Amino acid sequence: MSNLENRLKEAAERVEVALNALLPRAQGPEARLLEAIRYAALGGGKRLRPFFTLEAGRIFDADEGALLRAAAAIECVHTYSLIHDDLPCMDDDDLRRGQPTVHRQYDEATAVLAGDALLTFAFEIMGEPATHADPQMRCKLVTGLARASGAQGMVAGQAADMAGGDIGSDLIAVTRMNRLKTGALINFSVEAGALIGCASEAERTALNRYAHDVGLAFQMVDDLLDAEGAARDTGKAVGKDRARGKVNFVTVLGVEATRERVGMLASQAKRHLALFNTRARVLNEAVDFIVERRY
Ligand code: IPE
Ligand code: IPE
Ligand code: MG
Ligand code: MG
Ligand code: MG
Repeated sequence: MSNLENRLKEAAERVEVALNALLPRAQGPEARLLEAIRYAALGGGKRLRPFFTLEAGRIFDADEGALLRAAAAIECVHTYSLIHDDLPCMDDDDLRRGQPTVHRQYDEATAVLAGDALLTFAFEIMGEPATHADPQMRCKLVTGLARASGAQGMVAGQAADMAGGDIGSDLIAVTRMNRLKTGALINFSVEAGALIGCASEAERTALNRYAHDVGLAFQMVDDLLDAEGAARDTGKAVGKDRARGKVNFVTVLGVEATRERVGMLASQAKRHLALFNTRARVLNEAVDFIVERRY
């Protein structure tokens, strides 16, 4: 296994253990809701956002416990976004991370509520003193996560995605949508590591630019996988964006030009890491994973 594969696996395992410990047990009168939350949050996924937080923080030898709690909080927001994204009123998907979507496994109301609970739980985790001794740092983390997730971040992007062609079907509109729907949270995943690590202004800017390019490339590859990937690899249905009349990079640019742009963004992302020399080796290698991934 390559160094990067080991790091990805390690991040996934650590965040899974943390989430398992943090999430309430599925018992008592709300057992069904709690079971649905655990089903969604502990049911696989690449855990790429936690990986980014852990690895960005490690550049600065940041406290591992703080990084892990921030990573777990971010993964809760991401998981909530997937549960809601799959609902019949949104993308209407039956398969996620290789298993039935939450509304399929349980019911729609439970899926909405499980998403709500995970979103709020993220802020509970982030805001607790166990995340960081400095209340100002906790405030920065909470505010940053809120901004990345809300109506000027991921939720705005999801609204644009649902509006389809109404937002315009040119490259500028699609880029903006993806910056918001996927880019914002990926940016914050990296930013959280930099914040906890007390990175300098110049270091934060460099990491921000890296995350910007990686986030866009990540969504381009997601769109490519929808167009030409296989459900057995991705763990979710493919061919749905075009069928649903979505506007995305592939529908706007086509497969070849999208792939070309992924390549350009990948080299650009790596260049932003030059400042860190070998300290950012893992983040550098992650770019290749994102470009080449099949799932
Ligand atoms: C899927 O995200 C949704 C997008 C933002 C493209 P991921 O591809 O990170 O999903 P998981 O967490 O690995 O399942
Ligand atoms: C979802 O984008 C992005 C968020 C959940 C914020 P997609 O709708 O393309 O994600 P998949 O393809 O269903 O994973
Ligand atoms: Mg969607
Ligand atoms: Mg979707
Ligand atoms: Mg997609």
